[in-house]
Amino acid sequence: MEQKAFKRPFVNLFYVFFLSHLVFCQLDYRFYDSTCPSLTMIVRYGVWSAIANDTRMAASLVRLHFHDCFVNGCDASILLDDIDSTFVGEKTARSNQNSVRGYEVIDKIKANVEKACPSTVSCTDILTLAAREAANIVGASYWMVPLGHRDGRTANKTAANELPSPFESLDNIIAKFNAKGLDTKDVVVLSGAHTIGFAQCFTFKQRLFNFGGSGKPDPDLEASLLKGLQTVCPDQVDSDTTLVPLDSVTTNRFDNSYYRNLVNSSGLLQSDHVLSTDNRTASMVLSYSRYPYLFFKRFWSINGEDGQHWCSNGTRWGDKEELQSSQLDA
Ligand code: HEM
Ligand SMILES: *[C@@H]1O[C@H](CO)[C@@H](O)[C@H](O)[C@H]1NC(C)=O
Ligand SMILES: *[C@@H]1O[C@H](CO)[C@@H](O)[C@H](O)[C@H]1NC(C)=O
Ligand SMILES: *[C@@H]1O[C@H](CO)[C@@H](O)[C@H](O)[C@H]1NC(C)=O
Ligand SMILES: *[C@@H]1O[C@H](CO)[C@@H](O)[C@H](O)[C@H]1NC(C)=O
Repeated sequence: MEQKAFKRPFVNLFYVFFLSHLVFCQLDYRFYDSTCPSLTMIVRYGVWSAIANDTRMAASLVRLHFHDCFVNGCDASILLDDIDSTFVGEKTARSNQNSVRGYEVIDKIKANVEKACPSTVSCTDILTLAAREAANIVGASYWMVPLGHRDGRTANKTAANELPSPFESLDNIIAKFNAKGLDTKDVVVLSGAHTIGFAQCFTFKQRLFNFGGSGKPDPDLEASLLKGLQTVCPDQVDSDTTLVPLDSVTTNRFDNSYYRNLVNSSGLLQSDHVLSTDNRTASMVLSYSRYPYLFFKRFWSINGEDGQHWCSNGTRWGDKEELQSSQLDA
């Protein structure tokens, strides 16, 4: 597939002075300005209709993007389906199966983008824009995302199985972020995405009835929230998949309420709660709970100009169907 984007001199200068740290993955804020000017509108419309039908989809798209990017960089590999025994994708990895949603939203947007700009835009860029639009539609400030990501041809289920789990220690989670070039602050800031969306009861039930084998609930969990959760997630297996808001105060709003909950002992997941008690992270939680602007600014800078953390070593722009069939040919 030929890459048709051209860069104007202005863009090149901008590149040299401000984005040189991105050069190795050759991303550009105006990557499709000339080759697919309607791209942002098409993605925004697709995301908007999906959210109008299902509010939770905003959260699901943000998470889909994270789960793609955390495994070998942003390369859309999470979208690739398994093919019999010849190709194993990431959809069935522990943290993804029966949990990650939004694949069909991306497929639909991709089909519309292909109609407007055939063989031009990578699936990764569509996923990146979709996450940005989704967050913005539910209240997040708008930010520029660098584009020009290439789609991976491979997936790595083993690596996807190592996505951070809510049962892990903060040490482990920090180590996993460090391995991606992200630091402790990034753990705190990116976890702020849990200001939207839902979690299944099994992801935090260990806090409700028999915390650490004590036979009692987690003493750190705010009493009225605990009571509510014990009702919605009774101590029996059939409540495991019941959904509970990650932020019970402003469930569908991208704000800093996640941090306000944390300082109020109302974080849902153990991995959320620990951020407010560990001395490496507690002061950041407190400051984001007071100064939403600080949180937004940092959240978007990880996703925006510092997006090189998410570069993949993919080798081409691709099309999901084409990639999928190339796996069969291989
Ligand atoms: C720091 C380590 C993290 C852990 C341990 C973690 C864990 C989880 C878990 C267990 C759920 C519920 C899944 C389910 O019940 O099916 C969830 C949901 C979610 N996560 Fe995370 N997460 C982490 C970081 C992140 C990051 C960095 C983002 C995005 C920037 C993110 C965005 C979301 C969103 C938006 C949801 C709700 C999805 C929906 O409702 O469909 N998470 N996370
Ligand atoms: C609307 O959302 C529901 C889930 O809430 C989903 O099953 C359905 O396919 C969606 N419809 C459209 C047209 O996206
Ligand atoms: C897949 O990921 C695992 C765990 O991160 C790694 O050890 C392995 O080398 C990766 N496989 C490929 C083919 O990159
Ligand atoms: C903490 O919770 C209490 C009641 O549970 C509420 O009145 C208060 O506004 C909360 N504080 C913050 C910062 O959210
Ligand atoms: C956190 O507490 C531990 C032990 O209480 C101490 O050794 C460490 O220096 C503290 N770290 C910070 C960043 O305050």
